[in-house]
Amino acid sequence: MQTTYTHEELMADRDFAARVHHNGRLLHGGLDPDGNYLPPRSLHRLDAIEAWREQLRAAGHSTDVLGPEAIPDTYFPNEDQARLLLRKGARGAMARILTLIGVVEGFGNDGIKLMPLLDFSDFIVEPIAGTCLAHLHVGLFEAHGNDEAGRGEESGHDQMWYAVRDAALDRPEILPDYFTNLPIAPPPGYTGPAQPSPEAMSVSGNTTPLVDNVDPMFQLTIRGMAMILQIELMAFRTFSWAASVLGDSACSVDPHFAAETIGHIRRDEEIHVAYLQTALAELAVRTVRTSDGSTMPGAQLVEAAVAEAKSSQTGDRLARTFAFRYSQIRDELARFDDGDEMLADFDALGPTPNIEPPTPARL
Ligand SMILES: [Fe+2]
Ligand SMILES: [Fe+2]
Repeated sequence: MQTTYTHEELMADRDFAARVHHNGRLLHGGLDPDGNYLPPRSLHRLDAIEAWREQLRAAGHSTDVLGPEAIPDTYFPNEDQARLLLRKGARGAMARILTLIGVVEGFGNDGIKLMPLLDFSDFIVEPIAGTCLAHLHVGLFEAHGNDEAGRGEESGHDQMWYAVRDAALDRPEILPDYFTNLPIAPPPGYTGPAQPSPEAMSVSGNTTPLVDNVDPMFQLTIRGMAMILQIELMAFRTFSWAASVLGDSACSVDPHFAAETIGHIRRDEEIHVAYLQTALAELAVRTVRTSDGSTMPGAQLVEAAVAEAKSSQTGDRLARTFAFRYSQIRDELARFDDGDEMLADFDALGPTPNIEPPTPARL
């Protein structure tokens, strides 16, 4: 079983029988001769991650540090509510959500550059040769950033979500205010239109140590990985919602393209979840060196990072996101002649967030 790979191997594409284009834009990945989707940079990446996971299993260790129980089971608006909005021609909420997803995906390449180039063997007592940890800076982070935000001529998830939005909603008008109040801060180096909310999450902005006496740059890496893993896992909830609603011909102009493209993105995201889980699980069964010459269990650092990631993205923050979304939907429906009736129908289809007292402008 091969467990050591070069950068070139981890970045290598499969042989595609066909590529996917949309409106003249080349999308990453491709199709096999039977039309099945092949993720980008997956000639060796999938086998490599599986080999590292198998190593953990064979040693009796868990391969994952965060389970599906970390993902909230609610989504607002729910599928029926979203369908109602689209059938009635109120596309603003959906256009905003899809734009926001695309914008955050577009942070990928700049975000990955925030990860300091470290030799992890400086901070970990046991050998790491032939592990996922040892390959984070040998293609895994770079491939991840490229998947999210594209590479060269190839478009990544940001443009794929915009393509889904424009195909399913028939090129909706994109208002400048869709790019404001983002819940996640753009990374340094980002030059697009997105503006964070005052309380937006940022990896580099949080300087409180997760644990005492561990190198801050190493902690930043682990904190960033746990945060991205939590975001990736929560995105699966959004995928099933979006694929169901936008794959419905009653409320989508191009249900086939929308559902298929969301399926491709989802397939790519499974790779991100798998390698992040694996690297964090490897660290959790190792020993970390502390700056005072002592050591601590890696599990302590991983658990602190995972707990912070979970709590920062669920609970109050998610409630505020949904409340902001509901206030936008109410504003949009108020512009329709029969807006009161539409809102009553919408409210009858499922729970709605509490927006009293009025929520400050936040996503
Ligand atoms: Fe993505
Ligand atoms: Fe991802």
